[in-house]
Amino acid sequence: MLFRQLFDLESSTYTYLIADPNLQEAILVDPVLEQVERDRALLNQLGLTLRYCLETHVHADHITGTDRLRADTGCLGVVPERAHVSCADRHIKDGEILELGAITIQAIATPGHTDSHMAYLVGSDRLKLNRQTANVEPHLVLTGDALLIRGCGRTDFQSGNAGILYDSVTQRLFALPDETLVYPAHDYRGHTVSTIGEEKRWNPRFVGRDRQNFIEFMNALNLPDPKKMMEAVPANELCGRAVAIVNLSMV
Ligand code: FE2
Repeated sequence: MLFRQLFDLESSTYTYLIADPNLQEAILVDPVLEQVERDRALLNQLGLTLRYCLETHVHADHITGTDRLRADTGCLGVVPERAHVSCADRHIKDGEILELGAITIQAIATPGHTDSHMAYLVGSDRLKLNRQTANVEPHLVLTGDALLIRGCGRTDFQSGNAGILYDSVTQRLFALPDETLVYPAHDYRGHTVSTIGEEKRWNPRFVGRDRQNFIEFMNALNLPDPKKMMEAVPANELCGRAVAIVNLSMV
């Protein structure tokens, strides 16, 4: 499996390129509109055909590159089930697996940051994760904004819910094997990767907090709205298309 972590400095967003080198086909997870040229250049340099753009959730802090990439490459846009994105080519359900050659990408419903958020468990074999058995080969998990390294996504807008996020992280993500690599959708302090075991031991949002304590902590954060929220959410519900049109009209 080919795996690349890409970073957008303005929004501190990680985009992930995952590819089957034998098939020479790729998927981009959480692409950023302003980085589409970077991503296309990398795909070209590596000789990869883009098959899917996959979103962990409808973002509030950046605009997705999906519509631009879809127009340029013919890839399919995939979003979580229940995300209000009618322009998507496909909605993915909890437990459903997206296959790319020998690579499996399994959706794990992890609501709380938003009401339709998904994490994705990525493996380079054909083992299917059985929810009841954690006894599978080491994988990596793209945790979106549900679980960040030593942090978690906010829960104060987009139908966020702190109690539900607590359940998603502690019951779904922390149920994965400790050695599972954690790749989040953002980082603001220079981290790149962690593991489930490391986050269970050191993540200050969860260590020593029960559900009620976590809810009180999250509800008291009083964070400012993301700078791009007013344009990003409606644009992302249109796969990034609305802003692409605005940008063209401004050129
Ligand atoms: Fe987010």
